[in-house]
Amino acid sequence: MTQSANTALQSVIWAGEHLDLLDQRLLPEEVVYLPLVSVQDVWEAIRHLKVRGAPAIGIAAAYGVVLGSRDIATNAADWLTAVKEAAAHLATSRPTAVNLFWALDRMTARAESLAGSGTDLVALKQALLDEAIAIQSEDEETNRLIGEHALELFQDGMGVLTHCNAGGLATAKYGTALAPFYLAKERGMQLKVFADETRPVLQGARLTAFELQQAGVDVTLICDNMAGMVMNKGWVNAVIVGTDRVAANGDVANKIGTYSVAVLAKAHGIPFYVACPLSTIDLNTASGDLIPIEERGEEEITEGFGKRTAPKGVKVFNPAFDVTPHEYVTAIITEKGVVKPPFDVNLKKLFDL
Ligand code: MRU
Repeated sequence: MTQSANTALQSVIWAGEHLDLLDQRLLPEEVVYLPLVSVQDVWEAIRHLKVRGAPAIGIAAAYGVVLGSRDIATNAADWLTAVKEAAAHLATSRPTAVNLFWALDRMTARAESLAGSGTDLVALKQALLDEAIAIQSEDEETNRLIGEHALELFQDGMGVLTHCNAGGLATAKYGTALAPFYLAKERGMQLKVFADETRPVLQGARLTAFELQQAGVDVTLICDNMAGMVMNKGWVNAVIVGTDRVAANGDVANKIGTYSVAVLAKAHGIPFYVACPLSTIDLNTASGDLIPIEERGEEEITEGFGKRTAPKGVKVFNPAFDVTPHEYVTAIITEKGVVKPPFDVNLKKLFDL
C-alpha cells in the first residue's frame, strides 16, 4: 500500500486482521506500508528497523503477540502458551529499548489474567487485541502531555537541537522530543529546530527533517559534527532528545551520538532535556552501564549510502546507542511532569503519583 506523503504518517496501523507497518527504511523517498501477518513478520520488522523508536517498537510488538496467538483454536491454556512464546520471541528482536519489554510484559500479564477467567477463546483474543490498541492510544495521549510539559521550558524564538528521531514516526503520534515542536506550531510559537543527521542510519535526516518539514516546522538539517559549531554561534538555546531507556539513577541510553551532544551542551551552558514516557524508565536497571547496548552490522557504516565508503576488511565498531551519564541531564520530561535531579530520588516518586 502506498500513501500520499503530505499527511502525518502513522507508523503502526491495526488493519482488522493484520498490521500495516510503515517501512521507515524507505523514508523519505517512498511511503510504503507493509502488511504484517505473523509474529515472525513483526520480529523481522523490528530487527531490521522497518519500525524503530522505543514506543513504536513496543506498540508493534504488542500487536505481534496478538498475531502470534490468534490461530489457537483449542483452549485457553494453549492460547496462553502461544502468547508467552510470541512474547519470548519478540523479546529477542532488539535489546536496548525497554518499551519493547514493557509492552510484552503488559500483554503477557493481561493474557494471564484473562486465561483463567473461563471466557471463551474468541473473547480472550478480542480482549488481548484491545490491550494492544490501548497501548497504542495511551501512547498518543502520553506524548501530547509530554509536549505540553516540554513546551513550558521553551520560549518563542528559541533554537532547539535534537538528535535521532523521537517524533510521530517513533511513537503512536506527536513523538516525545518532537511533541513540543508540534504544539508550538499549533499555537503560533516560533521555534527553530536543528536536526542532527544521526549517522550511521540517518534517522535525523531521513525521519526528523522529513516529519518536521511535512508539518511546516522550521527545521535545519546539520551533520552530527556541526552541533558544536551551531552551539558556539549561539544558535541553540536548548537540546531535547528521546531515549530508549532511563536507568534508575537518571543515566540515559539513546541513539549513538547523544552523549557527544550532551557533553557539547554542558560545555556551552545549554540545558539538555530528555523526553520520554514512564514506560521508558527502568527502575530495575540501577545505572546506565547495566543497559544492554545493541551493536549492529558493519555495513551500516561501510556502505550506508548505497555504495562502499570504507576499505574492505577495515575493523568497524557500530554501537547503535550510547549512555549519557545523569550529570549531563538537566531534566527528564514525562507525561507526569518535568523531573529534575536528584534523579535517583525523583524518578521513583513518579511511579507513586
Ligand atoms: O535505532 P532507533 O532508530 O530505534 O533509535 C531510536 C532512538 O534512539 C530514539 O531517540 C528513541 O527510541 C526514542 S523514540 C521516542
